[in-house]
Amino acid sequence: MTNRILLLGVVLTLLIISAALILPDNNRSTDQTAFAATPPVADEAQYIGVAQCVICHRTEAQGEQERIWRESLHAYAFERLKEEQSVEIAQEMGIDTPPHEAEECLVCHATGFDLPDERLGNRFNVEDGVQCETCHGAGSEYRAIHARDVEAGKERGLIVGRGDADRCIECHNENSPTYKGFDFERDMEAIAHPVPD
Ligand code: HEC
Ligand code: HEC
Ligand code: HEC
Ligand code: HEC
Repeated sequence: MTNRILLLGVVLTLLIISAALILPDNNRSTDQTAFAATPPVADEAQYIGVAQCVICHRTEAQGEQERIWRESLHAYAFERLKEEQSVEIAQEMGIDTPPHEAEECLVCHATGFDLPDERLGNRFNVEDGVQCETCHGAGSEYRAIHARDVEAGKERGLIVGRGDADRCIECHNENSPTYKGFDFERDMEAIAHPVPD
């Protein structure tokens, strides 16, 4: 969680710096340098929601990613925060808001809850919890193109993350009040949703 807050701080600082550089002469085209570390497209892309991915990623030929995800606990992560157990955990931590409205919980149990409306597509639903775009990146810019050209999709923010535990560990760590440990091989196997050969 601390990492995410730090990251948010860095992103906000970059935005403020670049706004300060851009606004006086109103010239947007010259200053991209402040964003060098993060792909500019992904910074502006919208989270469009699971509904926009599973149009294609549901058939047997594609690997039934929709069914596999819906049967996983990631799809239940937002709903989980409404359970009595969650209310008790939040109370013990001194959190006054209901867990499904508390940033302290949503940061790992949902996506996009803290973003302005212009970053959310009209089929985005925060109740989808940990969803495709949580791991694969905000989809508005790569959605159409990656189906024909995966590399072009990656240039527009598609993250595939094969063999990469880093994203998982942003949530699967000791800041989780119920942390059960994490083993990339085992846990990736448990949520595997490959395209069949
Ligand atoms: C129009 C249909 C369509 C939509 C909508 C769609 N995809 Fe895809 N996606 C595909 C196809 C087809 C491929 C396989 C491309 C290939 O391997 O040539 C693919 C491949 C992928 C891959 C694997 C890339 C790789 O390296 O093999 C990921 C990850 C992915 N899609 C995620 C998503 C996400 C997340 C969304 C929603 C934001 C989404 N897709 C929406 C059709 C679609
Ligand atoms: C918790 C993170 C996470 C979520 C949620 C998630 N994926 Fe993935 N997905 C991954 C990772 C990581 C890989 C790479 C798998 C590997 O390393 O074997 C992957 C691989 C894929 C692939 C490529 C499979 C292949 O055989 O090359 C597709 C397509 C895909 N995901 C689509 C989706 C769709 C559609 C959703 C939502 C219904 C989704 N994913 C939800 C993490 C996630
Ligand atoms: C945005 C935060 C987040 C990320 C990123 C994330 N997870 Fe999770 N994961 C959760 C939460 C929250 C739960 C518990 C959901 C519940 O039980 O309500 C969970 C549960 C699981 C489970 C439990 C079993 C099941 O059926 O779902 C597995 C396995 C898992 N995650 C694997 C992974 C892997 C592998 C990755 C990386 C590819 C990953 N997760 C990335 C938040 C995340
Ligand atoms: C750092 C990320 C993170 C934060 C913050 C977080 N969770 Fe979770 N939560 C997870 C993960 C990952 C799991 C899967 C089990 C684990 O912790 O390894 C999970 C699982 C759960 C479960 C299911 C536990 C079980 O026994 O199956 C509950 C309930 C829960 N979280 C409630 C909360 C509440 C309430 C908050 C806010 C006070 C919260 N979580 C904050 C990541 C997080």
